[in-house]
Amino acid sequence: MKPVKLGLIGVGTVGTSTARVLNNNASEIARRAGRNIEIVHASRRNMSNGLPVEIEGIPLTADPFEVVNNPEIDIVIELIGGYHPALELVLRAIENGKHVVTANKALIALHGNEIFAAAEAKGVNVVFEAAVAGGIPIIKAIREGLSANHIQWLAGIINGTGNFILTEMRDKGRDFASALREAQALGYAEADPAFDVEGIDAAHKLCILASLAFGIPLKFDAVYTEGIAGITTEDLVYAGQLGYRIKHLGIARRTDQGIEMRVHPTLIPDRRLIANVDGVMNAVLVMADKLGPSLYYGAGAGADPTASAVIADIIDVARTITTDPQNRVPHLAFQADQIVDIPVLPIEQISTAYYLRLRVDDIPGVMADITRIMGESDISIEAILQKEPDAGVEQATIIMLTQKIREMQMNQAIDKIRVLDTVHGEIHRIRVESLDVD
Ligand code: HSE
Repeated sequence: MKPVKLGLIGVGTVGTSTARVLNNNASEIARRAGRNIEIVHASRRNMSNGLPVEIEGIPLTADPFEVVNNPEIDIVIELIGGYHPALELVLRAIENGKHVVTANKALIALHGNEIFAAAEAKGVNVVFEAAVAGGIPIIKAIREGLSANHIQWLAGIINGTGNFILTEMRDKGRDFASALREAQALGYAEADPAFDVEGIDAAHKLCILASLAFGIPLKFDAVYTEGIAGITTEDLVYAGQLGYRIKHLGIARRTDQGIEMRVHPTLIPDRRLIANVDGVMNAVLVMADKLGPSLYYGAGAGADPTASAVIADIIDVARTITTDPQNRVPHLAFQADQIVDIPVLPIEQISTAYYLRLRVDDIPGVMADITRIMGESDISIEAILQKEPDAGVEQATIIMLTQKIREMQMNQAIDKIRVLDTVHGEIHRIRVESLDVD
């Protein structure tokens, strides 16, 4: 059978690794794909840095449009990331009748609806396993492995950089900035690490997972997003004393009122498997009505794990290249005409439990005032920790865990507590999820 010909756009960390793995594992890959797979054209923006040996002998251009316009190419591999010119390149590739493999979560989250419509009209595939959770085949699991199920919710650690930072802070007492620098040096972080730290990268990935799980259009703007910059080492310690770990979670849940999509630091009971996923590792816990809970774990970032997912997609496309387009696995798991635009709930409408940390005067009556406000707002307190002030300091730290309550009610109580004369500074709030799978 004729070999499948690839055009590689982006010869950076993942592109180089993709070329290397295609070469190193060529015969195993051909046994699986049923034909040889070869890169016949590549593009790289910056030609001045030494070129990796992995692409020696492959015609190389600085203009990625030459690659997508090359009539010889069957599949375009887009590994440059970002919105532009990735969008224009992918749309041109589709227009030229080429299949596309991409690791670009930002592109899929923001422009996926348009890209998939164009791909369906043209009868080509756009696949994106590497866009979510690095090397973990989570998209395949949800799109194909769980297709008999009604998926109720999923919760994932889907940003390796953020998980690495929180783990280093908790285990080694490191400060945030130095842990981030190491994540950058290890090649985990985005080109702009604010995407990792502020939760935007995780929100891109969550919006993709939610669409696959619930059959809804991609709605990145509807994801509530909070980063990890406000998490302190003391929060990690106090959470531990209460039997919890703090993880930066992406949560998508289907409720009778609508869909929840949110990314924020979250306390999870430390006995949950997902609470023990550390470092750059990612994990996604999926609750489905027939299978029950299932957990997918693996490297969430890094060159070879991401290349593993890219090449799995290439093999998938190679296998289906001659299949009738109507009979391929749909881009967003559900048939295109079955995607339903279920409303996404604003964050004020969600219900969850809360961890609160506040600084108060160390005098009688303070706790009574706070608990009275909580009671008046119908909020039950699950646990309270009071940290006595250090010598010479007049203010004590109070940590509270509440029971589940609507976010709007919590906001109202926090507004009342904040203005008490005996309460100082910001009231620090972290949401708590039991992730109950029983
Ligand atoms: N910056 C991302 C992360 C890379 O840390 O998870 C993988 O998508």
